[in-house]
Amino acid sequence: MNTKRRINFIGSLSAAIVVSALMMISACTPAPPSTRSPTPLADPSGDPVAGVEAFKTYCGQCHELTPGLNRRAPNLKGIYGSKAGFLGDYEYSAQIKQSNLLWNEENLIRYMMAPKQMFPDTKMLVDQLPDDKQAKDIMAFLATHP
Ligand code: HEC
Repeated sequence: MNTKRRINFIGSLSAAIVVSALMMISACTPAPPSTRSPTPLADPSGDPVAGVEAFKTYCGQCHELTPGLNRRAPNLKGIYGSKAGFLGDYEYSAQIKQSNLLWNEENLIRYMMAPKQMFPDTKMLVDQLPDDKQAKDIMAFLATHP
């Protein structure tokens, strides 16, 4: 190998090292969490303040409101008005994922009150809410959550 060829060889070798180092760095950078866009609530009959407590009592042991925090269940930030099974970083059961359903008032209340009736294969197992007042309050809280 003459000197010029050796320099060329070293040059391409170091370029390859730089490229693979960059690839390793980008593989280690976590992907940004999947987020839904917020939608204002159409039906104002729920009480968002009462919804804070109701959410803690009936939903909070499984659901978070922070994007990316999907431990026992998908986070619910921006859920109102969003497509069911939307998050790319949560593994939903098949029926929700394929439903193409929109989480409007009617569908959210139906699901909160009786998830298995809506999607028999759903992973969401909950205690029955006392009545749809709680469901409306929770929905109002979720829709107004910043
Ligand atoms: C015991 C745990 C648990 C509780 C309590 C619970 N959930 Fe869930 N929830 C889940 C799981 C698990 C899923 C994922 C369902 C699936 O993939 O089938 C889910 C899914 C959902 C979804 C669909 C999310 C999406 O991205 O499409 C909504 C809406 C929802 N829950 C609302 C609620 C509300 C509101 C409450 C309180 C009234 C509640 N959940 C209480 C576990 C829970």
